[in-house]
Amino acid sequence: MAQHKSPAQGAPSAALNGRYAHVKGWGTANASIAMHNSELEKLVDTSHDWIVERTGISERRIANERESVVTLGVKAAQQALAKADMLPDEIELIIVATSTPYYYFPSTACLIQDKLGATNAGAFDIVAACTGFIYALGLASAQIKAGGVNTALIIGTETLSRIMDWQDRSTCILFGDGAGAFVLKVSDAPGGIQDVVMHSDGSGADLLYASTGIRETWDGDASEQRLYMNGREVFRFATRVMASATHEVVAKAGLTLDDIDVIVPHQANQRIIQAAAKTMKLPMERFFVNLDHYGNTSAASIPLAIGEAVEKGAIKAQDKIVLVGFGAGLTWGAALLEWDSIEEPPRSAVRELVRSAWYILARMRSFLSRVLRFLERVIFRPPGEVYGEKLDK
Ligand code: UT7
Repeated sequence: MAQHKSPAQGAPSAALNGRYAHVKGWGTANASIAMHNSELEKLVDTSHDWIVERTGISERRIANERESVVTLGVKAAQQALAKADMLPDEIELIIVATSTPYYYFPSTACLIQDKLGATNAGAFDIVAACTGFIYALGLASAQIKAGGVNTALIIGTETLSRIMDWQDRSTCILFGDGAGAFVLKVSDAPGGIQDVVMHSDGSGADLLYASTGIRETWDGDASEQRLYMNGREVFRFATRVMASATHEVVAKAGLTLDDIDVIVPHQANQRIIQAAAKTMKLPMERFFVNLDHYGNTSAASIPLAIGEAVEKGAIKAQDKIVLVGFGAGLTWGAALLEWDSIEEPPRSAVRELVRSAWYILARMRSFLSRVLRFLERVIFRPPGEVYGEKLDK
């Protein structure tokens, strides 16, 4: 398989022209409904004991009817901006990693950009399934290091509950909803995101997929949107690549596993993490695990875990951290970063106030933009008028 042979990607470590990409803010958003395993016992032929023994999961969070990938993503982003003490218009790039976008298009990133009032940002989504946050981190940090942008907001946000087959006990017990975000900013101080490796192997696409609901032909029936997974094969793949991607990113940074303080893995299954720890000959204490109360939140799982790890003091200033993920695609990857500080930067009360007002104004701005677009259409372009110049025949 490709993952055993692939050399380390790109140039080693290095910031270009003394430009480093640092994590300046982070945020999380939990979906409102806590669904314990006992609830699932009522839906499918399963038991709390089976789920805990095979996965480590006791509970997952499910979005209520007012929540979506957009509202969860916005909440996580607002927290991250507050921690970084930045205003939304300082953000130049928004990347959203999600497998459950609000629409096929426009991107969820654009919907979040509008709600934040991040008027100076380019915004787009990426689909790399559960590896999405690592990919987003790779893209955003490369943009910052190369001088393309000075700031970026990356968000992993998911409502997997909405594509779940709640009759399929092999999948519905695993997944949950939530969001997490990072604000990245350029700095000339060494540190921050040191290296990222990204891999894919589309020959394994059939092992884990969700159909789009797009018709097979123009006049065909819309196929039902549903998640399908070959759990055993994904399990085998995951235990292999968690170790290989971690080794690869550590070697690329010129370090060894001994230099790593904390590994934050994709939170899919406790047994996968244990198997990866065994392969890497590392004690489980080096891994941060919180899947017992969130389940697998796909692209949101790593930033959700980071948020909790920082809160609990499991990640400390200057810690060297490896984030490692795997998922549908197949995709897998890892990132190595040095955590700047667990101290929140001193926040200005005035900016706090401005930020709160900003989100209200962002709604008004969005509404007014729609009204203006409407008025422009009605007043300046009466019905029947040809838009633009006619072509000369
Ligand atoms: O982000 C990536 C997403 N995906 C993953 O990470 C998934 C990776 N895979 C896994 O986590 C595991 O394969 C599962 C948790 C999905 C399944 O665990 P397993 O130990 O691999 O179980 P299995 O598929 O080998 O099934 C063992 C038995 C089967 O019964 P039989 O055929 O032995 O009679 C299943 O039908 O367990 C049965 N089973 C269940 N029993 C009770 C499957 N799901 C359940 C269930 N409750 N929810």
